[in-house]
Amino acid sequence: MGANISSAHLANCTSRLGALGVVSGVGLRHVVITQIRQGDTAALKIAETFPVRSYYEELLSYAPGGAKADRAIPVDVPDSEKARTPRRLSAICAYIEVMRARQGHNGVIGINVMWKLAVTALPTIYGAMLAGVDALLCGAGVPMELPDIIQKMRAGEDLEYVPLTGTGTNAAMQISEDRTAELLQARQAPWMMPILSNFAFCKRLLDTWKTKYDTEPTAFILENHAAGGHNAPPRNHHEFAEADDLTSYFDKVLALGRPVFVAGDFPEGGTSEDLAHWRARGAQGIQVGSRFALSGDSGMRADLREKVIAANQQGELVVGTDMRMSPTGYPLKFASIPNTLSEPEVKSSQRHVCNLGYLVKSGTQKLPDGTEKEVLVCPAMPTDQYTKLGGEPEDQDGRICLCNALLATAGYNAPSEPALVTLGESGRQVKELLTARQVVEDILGKEQVALNEAALATN
Ligand SMILES: Cc1cc2nc3c(=O)[nH]c(=O)nc-3n(C[C@H](O)[C@H](O)[C@H](O)COP(=O)(O)O)c2cc1C
Repeated sequence: MGANISSAHLANCTSRLGALGVVSGVGLRHVVITQIRQGDTAALKIAETFPVRSYYEELLSYAPGGAKADRAIPVDVPDSEKARTPRRLSAICAYIEVMRARQGHNGVIGINVMWKLAVTALPTIYGAMLAGVDALLCGAGVPMELPDIIQKMRAGEDLEYVPLTGTGTNAAMQISEDRTAELLQARQAPWMMPILSNFAFCKRLLDTWKTKYDTEPTAFILENHAAGGHNAPPRNHHEFAEADDLTSYFDKVLALGRPVFVAGDFPEGGTSEDLAHWRARGAQGIQVGSRFALSGDSGMRADLREKVIAANQQGELVVGTDMRMSPTGYPLKFASIPNTLSEPEVKSSQRHVCNLGYLVKSGTQKLPDGTEKEVLVCPAMPTDQYTKLGGEPEDQDGRICLCNALLATAGYNAPSEPALVTLGESGRQVKELLTARQVVEDILGKEQVALNEAALATN
């Protein structure tokens, strides 16, 4: 859960108890460098173990005492030379996050890579693999090139996708000089777990991977439209109907023969009953989000979490879906909380901005001399900038800068920046503050958790 809701701390708490703890790959360059600038010396100690020294030195220059300590954290740019710095910083930040999640136990750790964040997808995967991540969970798009990416990284080859399928964004990363192939080959390749929301994409992805790469997904994660954050668009483009319900395509996906995990379809909110229900139908397990987001161990700002729980205690929490707000174009599910972007007045007062640049898309700008130039655009940009870069003003209607909003929700933005609490419908069932351990115990059972913890402990 991005950004930093599924923090390294939360993933560490759940993984050591036998769950697959997943860190969010969203915005890690800003999250981790901000933490370092706020005095997180433990993160720097981990960074020092990064296998390529120059990445560490680059990070150090943005840390307190470094030559660029006062400069803004770099953002992605189209120029491939200049893009090296933000890419390398994203990679080492992903490395730090995964290493922190892995500390002190032998449980399994995954990282979530949002495909729509194509500019950071490759560095995030690279950094996570160098940290020995066990699983790559890829949603918000169809990760067609994932096997190719893993294979090229393990072979130490430079990567370039123009564009990354389905994203409209070019993605590249130069790694051949890093000499990391041997290290990556000595490790097991990570599990590949695409997060999808219909049968057609599962079938197409399976067929493509078999034909092109002679491989298969380790498992499918099927996410229903009641899940928190981004949802796949409804088939009729307007509202969710029966054909969008996970129950209508679950059996067909199961028949493809790969293990299936279910997300966002939990009558009990994500408990052992939900797990038993889906296991009885043939699923391998469930992916629970909202209950963990509202636990005391997530990276969500405590005041926001408290407001959600208080509204639930009064039976008043509204969880809604907005079809326009996200620059990705995907429906976005969030809780209505006073003074956040769920309120129309707060939303309409938000300025157009693009200063973090994680959700940008590749475009082409026509210059006055008739030549063309590659640019990165986001419909949440200031209108002048967006249209100058070739964007259509009507694309901007109703958009918000999700990068700024989500960093605010995790407490990594200026206090004046409005937050947005993305949440699934199951979040309405959370009426008390629990620890992540309590949530895991509710799902796996106390006894099982105790056995897992003992088996996975390293000290
Ligand atoms: C606060 C929040 C943020 C989320 N962010 C992401 C994300 O960045 N990437 C993603 O693939 N899924 C994201 N999700 C979806 C979860 O990974 C998960 O599939 C979903 O929450 C499961 O359903 P539940 O919310 O009913 O437990 C998010 C969910 C929540 C509640």
